[in-house]
Amino acid sequence: MKKHPPIFSDFPQLAHGGDYNPDQWMHRYPEVLEEDLRLMDKANCNTFSVGIFAWMDYEPKEGEFHFDWMRKILDNLHRQGAQVVLATPSGSKPAWLSKAYPEVCRVNDQGLRAHHHNRHNHCMTSPVYRKKVAILNQKLAEKFGGHPAVKMWHISNEYSGECHCDLCHRAFQDWLKARYRTLDELNHAWWSYFWSHRIGDWSEIDPRDKSVDGMCLDWRRFVSDQTLDFMKAEIAALRAGGASQPATTNMMGFFHGLDYWRFAEVVDVISDDAYPQWKNTEEDLNMASLLGCVHDMHRSMKNGKPWMLIESCPDAPQWHKTPRLKRPGVYRNEMLQAVAHGADAVMYFQWRKGRGGMEKFHGAVVDHEGSENTRVFKQVAELGSTLHKLAPVVGTSTHSDVAILMDWEVRWALETSQGPLKIEGENIYLTPVLKAHRGFWEKGISTDVLESLSDFSGYRMIIAPQLYLLKPGVAERLRQYVEDGGTLVLTYLSGVVNESNLCFRNGFPGGGLRELCGVWAEEIDHLYEEDSQEISSLPNNKLNLQGTWKTGRTCERIHAEGAEVLATFEHDFYAGSPALTRNQVGKGSVYYLAAKMDETFWSDFTQALIKETKIPRLLKSEPPKGVHIRNRCDEEKEYIFIQNFNNHPVEIDLEDLSALCMESGDVVKGTVSLEGWHTRILCQDL
Ligand code: GLA
Ligand code: ZN
Repeated sequence: MKKHPPIFSDFPQLAHGGDYNPDQWMHRYPEVLEEDLRLMDKANCNTFSVGIFAWMDYEPKEGEFHFDWMRKILDNLHRQGAQVVLATPSGSKPAWLSKAYPEVCRVNDQGLRAHHHNRHNHCMTSPVYRKKVAILNQKLAEKFGGHPAVKMWHISNEYSGECHCDLCHRAFQDWLKARYRTLDELNHAWWSYFWSHRIGDWSEIDPRDKSVDGMCLDWRRFVSDQTLDFMKAEIAALRAGGASQPATTNMMGFFHGLDYWRFAEVVDVISDDAYPQWKNTEEDLNMASLLGCVHDMHRSMKNGKPWMLIESCPDAPQWHKTPRLKRPGVYRNEMLQAVAHGADAVMYFQWRKGRGGMEKFHGAVVDHEGSENTRVFKQVAELGSTLHKLAPVVGTSTHSDVAILMDWEVRWALETSQGPLKIEGENIYLTPVLKAHRGFWEKGISTDVLESLSDFSGYRMIIAPQLYLLKPGVAERLRQYVEDGGTLVLTYLSGVVNESNLCFRNGFPGGGLRELCGVWAEEIDHLYEEDSQEISSLPNNKLNLQGTWKTGRTCERIHAEGAEVLATFEHDFYAGSPALTRNQVGKGSVYYLAAKMDETFWSDFTQALIKETKIPRLLKSEPPKGVHIRNRCDEEKEYIFIQNFNNHPVEIDLEDLSALCMESGDVVKGTVSLEGWHTRILCQDL
């Protein structure tokens, strides 16, 4: 596999560091900045995101700009050999701006304009805000675009949220005009004949009407698009100021408000913020596999290009419900898991705890105590030295035979529709995606995580849990994929609505999937907790699947229309009706699973699918429970990450593998033992 260039072109190391806020210290404690430089070396940190919340220091009064202070910081970091990710400070606006131009503050859905407070809360439409940000960004680019320390731009911070001001509502109306052109088209798409909600004039459109679910879906698209448009304007201002470094923005995992696939198309490098909560119990396996799924998506967003874990916490974030300290080994595993899944940067929020403010108790590399003698500091320094030894991993990536679909618009459509999924307390879309992912994760099989618009070619298997909404062309592309020999797994609630959230007619799964699956899903059943339903495999089924499994609380009553039945329901009036089917289409096959299932089923099902499709695995045998195995490769070498997420030690049979330990340099073969919460990284020639 061809190596990608390093994320900072002339720095072939894993980036290690974090958010650095000298602007909190320089006014009254300039000596701390000197001390920071000493400590950065000791912590083996080499990369810093700076200036994220520094607007007030750049422009304390409207039109009065100060950049010298940042130049000094950048000069010092450069002397130190550090790489800088310089931020645009649009995430937090100065009070003078809100005072002079109230339109920059958001309006809530009750029509109330927010006062100046907090951060991440400006209107994305406001021409004033856009102009002020553009002026500052352009100046930053002019001043620092040529600074040797500045290797990347950090665009704003964790974009999020929505605004209901007149400007935003009018922009929504214009966005809809561009999408539908005529009111007739819009009314049809929104089915606004219902309850007499037909729109007679564009100005009547008010996105706060939650009863028009087609509009709710479009509003989410608009909010995401408008935020993206804001980000593009920020980047354009940097380019206008002559900056040529790559741009990134910090995403927040599966944050539901923004379709990050669209953001991925615009930024040069993918970055993510992750703050998992660990308990040192078996529940951590859910967390580890969830993180694995998020990381897989970030690697997949740019076809395997290494990404940055740009924020994480070396200790406990103060905002966790229970800010439990990370037990020994937990932090190291968390960071190395990102690297195992393709990250070339491990960075923290925050370098140093501030004396005041909401985040003064948020975990940091440097504690209030201020020295290098804390447990956390020592751990960071130790990891830094490990990351240094892992430099050969930079630019390597992973080949996945399996892809799982996680599509924001599908999720939004499910969330904005009343029904068809009614189970409270569950994340109705992510839960099944994560269950499907986990089946592969625990077997050490790499998965890419895609959206429904991604390129499907090259995968042996695609799993699309609850593909409720079909974007135009998706059904056709899935058919092509299967005809060409792919294996596709669809579940209950596939092809229910089109891109406007309008139900397909002529039977579910609709939009062409009924023929592809060879199945008609006639009815969907929601069970009470005390109801029970099970599915059992049929003897001698093609997948060789054997067992009886309890279903979750959603089941479909389906009919096979050409598909072969592999398993059937056990109880109630639909006992004996198909629960799992397989349809041969061209050179490939389509499985349809008619019920929500738990981890046990997904584990057995994926096992059978892996056998059937002959997907190769790193080790022939399944790793012990709680142990995850991943690889990253280039054309000559393979780097194998073995991670134990259990509290107890495990033994792993490496079979015929003989590799070098990246840390000790020893040859490792046969059976290796791994302490609880420990990671080993091995390297072998290909
Ligand atoms: C987010 C923000 C940071 C900081 C951390 C705290 O990720 O981007 O500025 O507030 O949360 O966990
Ligand atoms: Zn607004």
